[in-house]
Amino acid sequence: MAIQKIYISTNLQADLESEIEGRNPGNIFILTDSTTKKLCLNQLGESILSKAKVIEIPAGDDHKNIESLASVWLYLSNNNATRKSLMINLGGGMVTDLGGFAASTFKRGMDYINIPTTLLGAVDAAVGGKTGINFNGLKNEIGVINSSKSVIIYAPFYKTLDHHNFLSGYAEMIKHGLISNQKIWDDILAFNLNNIDFDRLPYMIKESVEVKEEVVKIDPTEKGIRKALNFGHTIGHAFESYAMKQGNPALHGYAVARGMIPELYLSFKKAGLSKDILREGVSLIKENYGSFFISCKDYDKLYELMTHDKKNEGDGRILFSLISGIGEVKININIEKQDIFESLDFYCDSVGI
Ligand code: GLY
Repeated sequence: MAIQKIYISTNLQADLESEIEGRNPGNIFILTDSTTKKLCLNQLGESILSKAKVIEIPAGDDHKNIESLASVWLYLSNNNATRKSLMINLGGGMVTDLGGFAASTFKRGMDYINIPTTLLGAVDAAVGGKTGINFNGLKNEIGVINSSKSVIIYAPFYKTLDHHNFLSGYAEMIKHGLISNQKIWDDILAFNLNNIDFDRLPYMIKESVEVKEEVVKIDPTEKGIRKALNFGHTIGHAFESYAMKQGNPALHGYAVARGMIPELYLSFKKAGLSKDILREGVSLIKENYGSFFISCKDYDKLYELMTHDKKNEGDGRILFSLISGIGEVKININIEKQDIFESLDFYCDSVGI
């Protein structure tokens, strides 16, 4: 998979202009959702807006579906898009995933670039080439791995995020800290989430994105080490789906942060993680992300959800990515049901429910 160019931009319009000039596309389409259109589209600048056609889809993950995708294909088809066209995806993970998939499949593929407008998108969804839509009630069920040509990360967008959405993105940065090295983990622990230093944020984002890039470079199609990026997600996705089924959806990063608590425990119990790191991780998450209310009556349903995890291999085992230290990742670790339940007990005890 081609390497993506990543900009940590201080001048969005200039960087976008130079990307477009360098690529010399036939025609340009900007995909955005209804909310992002109002808040961010103008910041691309008149010179680009005058050259591009804007495609708008409804906001929200429930619209990351075949209907929205078909509407994008239809627009492209009716507006003379070709393989030489360029798609610019402006939005959060929903837009970059769906737009990346639309661009990758239209006439068997046109170039696209991502401009993530959420912190979660910047440090995760927009980077690494995963694209797709939800289907048949399952998240990201259909898609391809095909990298955007570039990702333009413009940190001023994240100043206007509400605190919950900021923390949702920061959860993936916590994960990147745990799977990378002591320096990055120390930076994560030192960053004050109650008084965010927006001058330092671009540096923190850069550091975090580099962790993901390194992993993706080695294993773009997730045959092996890319599963490290799933730390916290086996239980986190189960929390997320369970909350959704109960009609009380949780932000993705909150579910992942809370999923990291039992997975840190499993790392301690099954992979030799030290108690000190377990404590550091749990207190950072507990202090900032609160609790997701579960009781032991929910464990079987959560377990059932974990059986659908994409890392499993269809033989009934549940496979985790765990850590034995900062930056020491073990993948494909089979954990038995009773240990998973014990980790959920640990979660309930830790967050005081
Ligand atoms: N979100 C994890 C990955 O891109 O592999």
